[in-house]
Amino acid sequence: MTRIVLMSGSLRRGSVNSTAVATIGRLLARRGAQVRTPLLDLRTLPYYDQDLDAADGPAPVARARRLLGSADALVISTPSYNGGAPGVLKNALDWLSRPWGDSALTGLPTALMSASPGPRGAADAQPGLRVNLERSGAVLIDHRPLALGDAEALPRTDQGFTDPSVLALLEELADAVWAARRGAADAEVIR
Ligand code: FNR
Repeated sequence: MTRIVLMSGSLRRGSVNSTAVATIGRLLARRGAQVRTPLLDLRTLPYYDQDLDAADGPAPVARARRLLGSADALVISTPSYNGGAPGVLKNALDWLSRPWGDSALTGLPTALMSASPGPRGAADAQPGLRVNLERSGAVLIDHRPLALGDAEALPRTDQGFTDPSVLALLEELADAVWAARRGAADAEVIR
C-alpha cells in the first residue's frame, strides 16, 4: 500500500489549506486502489515538551510518528501567520523531528505549498518551513513553488477545489509527489 500523509497548518473549519490538501489527497488516491492519503490532525498533539519526549512520547505523538514513519511521502499546506507557519504546524514538526537524525521525517519526501485568502497565497510562510523541514531531515520534493492566492473566493465542494486552473496546479503538485514518493521506481502510474 502507498501511504501519503497530508497536513494542513490550519485548524479552522473552512480552511483553504485543509481544502488544498484534501484536493491533493483525492488526486493522489486516484493513482491506484492501494493509495491511502490520511490527514494528520494536528489538534491531537500536545505542546512539545522535552520532558515528555522519552521513548515513544505521549500516545498521540507515538501514533503520529508511526503514521509518518510508514509514509511514502508527506504533503503540507500552510497559511501564513504573521509571516511564518502557525504554531500548531511547527509544534507537530518539532515532535516528528525527534529523535534527531532518526526521526519519522528523516528521508521522507515532502512537498510544501501554501494558501491564503490574500493575493500572495501565504508564500512568506514557506521559506522558514523549508528550513525547519530540511533541518529535520525531510527531503523536499522538487516542484514548481505553489502559493494559492485569493483562495477563499475559489469554488469548492466537500471534495475540494473545483476550479479547473487550480486543479491543474494541484495535479502538477500531485504528479511531483507521486514521482518522488518512496518506492516510486517499483510502481506503475495509474490515472
Ligand atoms: C493571519 N492571516 C495572515 N494572512 C497573511 O496573508 N499574512 C499574514 O501574515 C497573516 N497573519 C495572520 C496571523 C494570524 C494569527 C491569523 C489568525 C491570521 C490571515 C490568514 O491568511 C487567514 O486566517 C487564512 O484563512 C488562514 O488559512 P486557512 O485557515 O483558510 O487555511
